[in-house]
Amino acid sequence: MKGKTVVITGGNAGIGKATAIALAKKGAEIVITSRSESNAKAAVAEIKSTSGNPAVSYVLVDLSSQKSVRKAAEELKTKCPQIDVLINNAGCYISDLQLNVDGIEMQFGTNHIGHFLLTNLILDNIKASGKARIINLSSIAHKSTRALNFDDINYQKEDYGGWKSYSRSKFCNILFTKELALRLEKDGITVNAVHPGGVRTEIAEKNANWFTKLGWIVMKPLMITVEKGAATSIHLASSPQVEGISGHYWAMSKQYWSNKPSQDPELAKNLWLKSEELIGQKFL
Ligand SMILES: NC(=O)c1ccc[n+]([C@@H]2O[C@H](COP(=O)([O-])OP(=O)(O)OC[C@H]3O[C@@H](n4cnc5c(N)ncnc54)[C@H](OP(=O)(O)O)[C@@H]3O)[C@@H](O)[C@H]2O)c1
Repeated sequence: MKGKTVVITGGNAGIGKATAIALAKKGAEIVITSRSESNAKAAVAEIKSTSGNPAVSYVLVDLSSQKSVRKAAEELKTKCPQIDVLINNAGCYISDLQLNVDGIEMQFGTNHIGHFLLTNLILDNIKASGKARIINLSSIAHKSTRALNFDDINYQKEDYGGWKSYSRSKFCNILFTKELALRLEKDGITVNAVHPGGVRTEIAEKNANWFTKLGWIVMKPLMITVEKGAATSIHLASSPQVEGISGHYWAMSKQYWSNKPSQDPELAKNLWLKSEELIGQKFL
């Protein structure tokens, strides 16, 4: 991947860091995002030393804050005039209901809205690539969601559940993938969604209640390594075999069917409109 620039959100930990190391080994210039400067610096040093590639740097962003996303987008636009691969990998799992600084439920606000905004803001630089690829980390967890209630994004009427909300955010990652793929068809940019597998990371230990943490820790020995979890993202970012393939859901480097409602074009369009409404800006 010599000469290619790859931006990976949440590249300081877990699957994102493993993806960054693998793509750095393939010769790409890597820009990771992180919400903490010390974590970013440590990850950049590790990615450089493990891959032997010095072209690794970072941009700070808290994806739960639209102000932070806008600042990071400006930085990325200057730093990377051409973005060949964007991997929207960052994600959080949160057991208890939280609203972000913009007043939006945290998992939806971070996992979907943060990436929706970032991607749209840096789209000109992605278009500059000519043949760019966008990869959105979703999850098999999307399958528990079968509908979206646009009038109750913050769970003011319906009961909140950590898993329910996580599943909704990962369902939205697929709808966003499909709508963006359609909108970018004419630009030669492909957009795909990934389920990485059940991967041994700390995602369900950071903001989870004790029984979720316990369950996650008990299940960890059965999960795959971050290197294996990164394989589908790496395949989509670098393989010539997937050139021109867009709008699909992938696991184990193969195309799979996501659930039926996540394939609904009307729902995907409505999510796009709701996301624009929540941000207060139109895109594309
Ligand atoms: N692990 C699994 O089994 C699994 C399964 C299916 C899908 N996924 C998806 O895979 C992706 C990577 O997850 P992972 O398992 O590698 O988890 P992880 O190790 O916790 O890494 C998640 C990354 O996202 C970042 N992040 C979280 N909240 C953020 C925010 N508000 N702003 C900016 N960055 C933020 C984290 O930053 P910090 O280091 O600062 O927390 C970290 O860099 C996620 O999208 C997840 O939903 C994971």
